[in-house]
Amino acid sequence: MSHIRGRFKKKADKTVNAYTTSVPFDWRLYPYDIAGSIAHARMLAKQGIIPDKDAETIVNGLTAIQREIEQGEFQFNVELEDIHMNIEARLIEMIGEVGGKLHTARSRNDQVALDLRLFSRDAITTTLAQLEELQRVIIALAEANKAVVIPGYTHLQTAQPVLLAHHLLAYFEMLQRDSERFLDCLARTDVMPLGSGALAGVAYDIDREFVAKELGFEEISRNSLDAVSDRDFVLEYQAAASFCMMHLSRLAEEIILWSSAEFNFIELDEAYATGSSIMPQKKNPDVAELARGKTGRVYGNLMGLLTTMKALPLAYNRDLQEDKEALFDSVEILLSTLEVFTGMLKTLKVNAENARQALEGGYILATDLADYLVKKGEAFRSAHEKVAKLVSYAIEKDKPLSKLTLAEYKKFSPLFEDDVFSITVESSLAARDVSGGTAPKRVAKALAAAKKSLGAKGG
Ligand code: ARG
Repeated sequence: MSHIRGRFKKKADKTVNAYTTSVPFDWRLYPYDIAGSIAHARMLAKQGIIPDKDAETIVNGLTAIQREIEQGEFQFNVELEDIHMNIEARLIEMIGEVGGKLHTARSRNDQVALDLRLFSRDAITTTLAQLEELQRVIIALAEANKAVVIPGYTHLQTAQPVLLAHHLLAYFEMLQRDSERFLDCLARTDVMPLGSGALAGVAYDIDREFVAKELGFEEISRNSLDAVSDRDFVLEYQAAASFCMMHLSRLAEEIILWSSAEFNFIELDEAYATGSSIMPQKKNPDVAELARGKTGRVYGNLMGLLTTMKALPLAYNRDLQEDKEALFDSVEILLSTLEVFTGMLKTLKVNAENARQALEGGYILATDLADYLVKKGEAFRSAHEKVAKLVSYAIEKDKPLSKLTLAEYKKFSPLFEDDVFSITVESSLAARDVSGGTAPKRVAKALAAAKKSLGAKGG
């Protein structure tokens, strides 16, 4: 509107206003915009750029505006382009000409960079807290089912027995790396860009460190051109969110498989399952399916912004406005997915008996048989071949390995003795006594270590 169209005789066309406005989505930056403006106004007064009493009037006005927005009384106007202009226009309307002093030594280019960094910093902090919450639930589920054994899979084919707790702790590790990624991204987000102006810095004796301190930033940006056009921190959030959703989608897939009638290793709580409008028997894992689906949207948000940033010349370009919707979308998807997964895992029941049955009958202890021969002096490669032939024989006879006689075993190797029958799921687990392995005592240690690492984070 009039504020920034001083050079024009014409009003912007309606379609242009509708096309260029960011108000429908950037309104949610208001608490950050106001916090940034308050810090800026205080700095201007401290530096003698505006009188103290003007700064006070501005700060009071901004505080009143925040209240108006929170109470739903604020009239947003798309003709005012964005949240920044909406707040400034209302400030001037409220306190008069003094309000026009707020934008001294500032541009919307460094202002929006600041707002987005403040938003991202909060988003990362919340994400970290929710990641930790989910990790706690994973540990609790593992502890509550310490003795449960499931078939481990490779190629989704029964491979070797593993403890369910070991399997769950694999997800703990993934989420741990996700936390590290978000923390790493936080360090580069926590940089204060104000003072960069439109692109070249500002022509006033400002105190950037003061603003940084007021807003709790660790650092100030070192190059004005970079500061107004850098969106690496948004990309990093999007990338870390993509990794995290990828991990959650893998867990989602297992929940979907495991809750099927064919596996039946787990039972979802009714509060976390949905029904079918036609098939009365259905108890669907829609939460997990949607998490799997929404992962695609988060990847899309990352690719979208990478593409927007590609080949953008310095410094600010309006293209950068396209960073926001996708960021808000990914934050919302990730936080809601973490939240609903926390509840879903907290309430699901493990069908230990069914998991146990899935271990029987198959040939899940074949590796242990080969290891048995190796311990009696056979080379692993030939032991593998002999056991493969034995398994193929057992399949032909339609017998599990445990139902073969010693005479049958001996047909494949004279090294087989009576003690071959002491190979069990339990001995198989216990044998994997290496750090990182599924032996129960190793898993107990891993659980304790996982708990301790969360304890160290506090919370
Ligand atoms: N709405 C803009 C954005 O999101 C704010 C900065 C506008 N700057 C400008 N020179 N038009 O990027």
